Amino acid sequence: MGWNSWNSFANIVNSQIVQQQAQALASNGMKEAGYEYVVIDEGWWLGERDAAGNIVVDPKQWPAIKPGQQNGDMANIAAYIHSLGLKAGIYTDAGRDGCSMYPDSGPKYMNTGSEGHYDQDFLQFSKWGFDYVKVDWCGGANEKRSGAVQYAQVARAIQRAEKITGRKLFFSICEWGSQNPWVWAPGVGGIQSTIWRTGGDIIPPVVESLHDPDHAKRVISAKNVLDSFEAGIHPEAQHTGYYNDLDMMVMGMRGMTEATDRIHMGLWALASAPLMVGSDLTRLSPATLSLLNNREALAIHNDPYGLQPIKVDEPSPGVQIWVKPMAIPGRRAIAILNRTDTVAQVKLDWHKLGLDGAPKTMRDVWNGRDFAGADALLSVPAHDLALLSVNGEDKKPDEYLANQSEIAGMNATRVPTFARLEYANISGHVVVVLMKSTSGLFTALSIPPTAGSNTGTAGLILPSGTADLSFGPGPVAVRKLAVYPWPSSSSQ
Ligand code: GLA
Repeated sequence: MGWNSWNSFANIVNSQIVQQQAQALASNGMKEAGYEYVVIDEGWWLGERDAAGNIVVDPKQWPAIKPGQQNGDMANIAAYIHSLGLKAGIYTDAGRDGCSMYPDSGPKYMNTGSEGHYDQDFLQFSKWGFDYVKVDWCGGANEKRSGAVQYAQVARAIQRAEKITGRKLFFSICEWGSQNPWVWAPGVGGIQSTIWRTGGDIIPPVVESLHDPDHAKRVISAKNVLDSFEAGIHPEAQHTGYYNDLDMMVMGMRGMTEATDRIHMGLWALASAPLMVGSDLTRLSPATLSLLNNREALAIHNDPYGLQPIKVDEPSPGVQIWVKPMAIPGRRAIAILNRTDTVAQVKLDWHKLGLDGAPKTMRDVWNGRDFAGADALLSVPAHDLALLSVNGEDKKPDEYLANQSEIAGMNATRVPTFARLEYANISGHVVVVLMKSTSGLFTALSIPPTAGSNTGTAGLILPSGTADLSFGPGPVAVRKLAVYPWPSSSSQ
């Protein structure tokens, strides 16, 4: 969770802008709500290196902020961000040339990528004090590289840098889904947690202060946001530590309304997608800010299983029910997404949510109140989204005990299905476990440590056709898998 400079500032990003945005984040309630990263995207570096290959930046763009600092030292801005109790992020490309400030006009700056300098650059970012790095794919794509290969090399360079500096450098992969990163990004290069973009940009940047005719034409629609959400649904790849990235948020930007802001926040929260806000934080309306800081929506987002939702029903065309299974047994977060031009009246079918009868409680997240009964007829305005949280009883799962590192004899799932994996991990640290199925599923799980004889659980969404799982070698003892009956839906 945090802020990223690209959507609202593109290539005019500089020290002053980043300081203002960081101050806004630290003082408008977002920091308390959990937004922590301030990420400087493309435009911070114009491709110059010294004779030893070290990155050289414009000293006017990145001057000293405090006495004793040197102009042109990126450590200045990282220290400033840290002084506000926040974390600092930076950006590069896996290829040689980077995006050259795509898609804005103006001179192209070549050599803005890290290819040929992976160890040097990631160590440099870490030494400057950065805690997060977004690695784009323009250069890699132009050179027709393999994303799986390049990003594994980047992941290893990041881990070497972390060893040297002792500072965690969070890895954000930005390959836009072009080579199915959900298949290879979880655990790439042995990394323990990562996010990967699943599609292109929701919109090109809207830099209001440029008064540029191209920027003036850019208006965001609900469709832009919904397309990004749909392109990013790959629930089989997402587990604690590994997340599909639906793109930086455009909350409150030109074209967004209170209703489309609700759709955006509701879907990103439900999907446990990175909440990297790309808006100008100094100009957020109270309504947008209160959605971003809505504690109940953020609790859904931060659920320890971190799963994506499953679309379980479409009671009438354009009215969709998306359900996220949560770590607490019987708990579901539900979005009723109304994509139509008229108000939708919906009565939820609990069977389709995998629940045994009506839930005990049902809560309206936006308004922070309980419904009187779970059988209420719910009204969702046109082009809007209702977000609910319910507590009920799970239907009884089918349980499969693990035999060493295999779960055999499993009935193949018929639809995307929620499952809980029970395990023990007494190694004392998070372990990456590789998991595959006879159906061709191949992914990685980030398994937190357990204490003593306790077991832990991880949530999974098994794609349809999953049967017989096997787990890679390692210190994690897989105990059992509970597969919850999840009824098929005509719209799946
Ligand atoms: C790509 C990425 C964006 C942004 C720009 C910078 O388009 O998808 O998020 O980083 O590059 O040029």
